[in-house]
Amino acid sequence: MVIFKKTADLQQYITSERIAGRNIGFIPTMGALHAGHISLINTALNNKDLVVCSIFVNPTQFNDKKDYEKYPVTVNEDIGMLVEAGCDVLFLPGIEEIYPEGTDKSPVFDFGYLDTILEGAQRPGHFKGVGQVVSLLFDAVHPQNVYMGQKDYQQCMVIKKLLAITGLQDKIRLHICPTVREADGLAMSSRNRRLTEPQRMLAGCIYQCLVSIESKADTATFEVVKKECTDLLAAKGFIPEYIALANADDLTLLNNYTPAPPMVALIAVRLGEVRLIDNLVLNNTSTQA
Ligand code: PAJ
Repeated sequence: MVIFKKTADLQQYITSERIAGRNIGFIPTMGALHAGHISLINTALNNKDLVVCSIFVNPTQFNDKKDYEKYPVTVNEDIGMLVEAGCDVLFLPGIEEIYPEGTDKSPVFDFGYLDTILEGAQRPGHFKGVGQVVSLLFDAVHPQNVYMGQKDYQQCMVIKKLLAITGLQDKIRLHICPTVREADGLAMSSRNRRLTEPQRMLAGCIYQCLVSIESKADTATFEVVKKECTDLLAAKGFIPEYIALANADDLTLLNNYTPAPPMVALIAVRLGEVRLIDNLVLNNTSTQA
């Protein structure tokens, strides 16, 4: 695996690979890698791309300074995992490489409705920061394919919109890849390592709630299931931030199960100092209006 810290060096390498006929597959990350990240690398490798992973803990997307300061940094372990997976290139820029003129001078995109709901409402400025850094990374990497996790459902929608706003949707194909889970259903996340042992034992409950939202679609109202989930999570010591049902295509929030569009259930909770999110696209629901 080749490691670049400077955009110019990365671009020189990528350009020669492009001339040789390779497609560039890009996996942007903030490091503290786990099997979820590696599944994205594997998907890109299966597509025969030249696989470029970036690790950059982007300060502009953290609305909570403490969360930024405590974000796990495990670069040596990350490099080991990427080499083992067969990743071709790691882009490991410093902050001055991404924001040479400071964070204020970088582009700002308007994601409209998407930025006002769920994560957008709970974390003001978060998607502005994500949009900024991903567009700067796209400028650096010039990928043909980008691989992102369904785990961050709303982020995927934001990036889809970013591609539309910047006119890049014909040049870059966004692949939304399935969420990789622990044995108890907990979605893998870099933040999981901040959970204490007892908290970790409880955390599978988030996925159980998503499954119950799916399985009760034909027999209960969402209001009732949401209350059951809220009570269950609260009884175990979670602080639920939202438990929501939305149209899976455009994230329009739904008050109840609906037969027409595909639906997605989304949950955000706090467990002690750690904030966790997860979602499930609802399958096999035959709800009648
Ligand atoms: P990060 O949280 O490191 O995630 C990098 C990518 O890995 C994202 O596309 C995320 O959805 C995916 N991912 C995380 N957990 C996953 C899991 N359990 N299964 C499958 N994929 C998973 O998301 C970010 O970084 C940043 O916001 C970033 C896009 C890099 C911009 O800074």
